[in-house]
Order: sequence, then C-alpha cells, then structure tokens
Amino acid sequence: MAILKILTYPEKSLLQPSVKVETIDEHIKQLTHDMGETMFAAPGIGLAAPQVGVNKRIIIYDTTAENPDDENAAKEFSALINPEIIAASGSIVSEKEACLSVEDYSADVKRYETVTVTALDIEGKKLEFDAQGVLAIIMQHEIDHLDGILFIDRISLLKRTMYKKKITKKLNDK
Ligand code: NI
Repeated sequence: MAILKILTYPEKSLLQPSVKVETIDEHIKQLTHDMGETMFAAPGIGLAAPQVGVNKRIIIYDTTAENPDDENAAKEFSALINPEIIAASGSIVSEKEACLSVEDYSADVKRYETVTVTALDIEGKKLEFDAQGVLAIIMQHEIDHLDGILFIDRISLLKRTMYKKKITKKLNDK
C-alpha cells in the first residue's frame, strides 16, 4: 500500500484522454488499492487514475459517500474499470463541487440527476447500474477525468478564466 502523489491542474496528464484497460492484472489491482488509500487520506470521495499520473480508464469512489451522516460506517471504496455512461436524464446542480486536482476552488456545476453506468469490477465482471444524486455526480466527475475533462471545464467561461488567472499567478509567485 502506498499513498500516491495527486497531480493538480494544469498538469498535462489531467488534460489528456485515458486509454482502456485491456487486462486487469496484479498491477492494476495494486494501483486501485493505492488509489483507495490515497483518496481516503486526502480525503476525497472519488479519484481517477489520471489524477495519480496513470492515463488508464480506472476510477474509484467512496461507496459510503451517499450516507455521510452515518459516522459509524466503515470507509469502503469500489473500483470501476473502463466505466461508461450509457444513459443520462434529469438535471441537478452539484453544490460546491470540488476536485483534489483543482486546488483552492469549488463551484456549482450542472449535472445529470441520474446516470446509467457500465463498467468492469476489479475481478473483470461486467456491471451495469443506475446512479442518482451524489453518486451520479461522482460518476460524471470521475468519468470526465478519463476524457481529460475537469469540472472547471463545465463552468462559465468567465469563472474558468478567473480560476486560471489565479492559478497562473500562484505558480508565478512560487
Ligand atoms: Ni476530480
């Protein structure tokens, strides 16, 4: 187990599309375990492989994120390999959506209310499920990462420009 370094915007691997996983080998399994440890340490409720510098279509998410009030629930995560959204409906606004790769920023983002996701689990078994609410937002946010898309790409141009200016200034000040 290891805690991995989480890359932040404007790191290149965050902005490029990831490739499909062909074989779920021990290497991939180890990566998902390390991603789980990294996500809970951050802490976060979802993490995509490109955020740790691996441009492969793998995401993990906190399976207890839907019930944040249940403090006694043990923290657990699931990994999805090659996840895809095959259907989407409705509309909600994620309040203060944030990302471990987008420092010091959050914004309301328009998202689908319900999505249908297909993926392989870590054993290679095919999955198909509907996600709603918080889970639907996590799925859209993390799967976007696999296409090189960050939540700041889904806010207004004005807000995005302001964020980029702030980051550029911060990097220049270093
Ligand atoms: Ni993110």
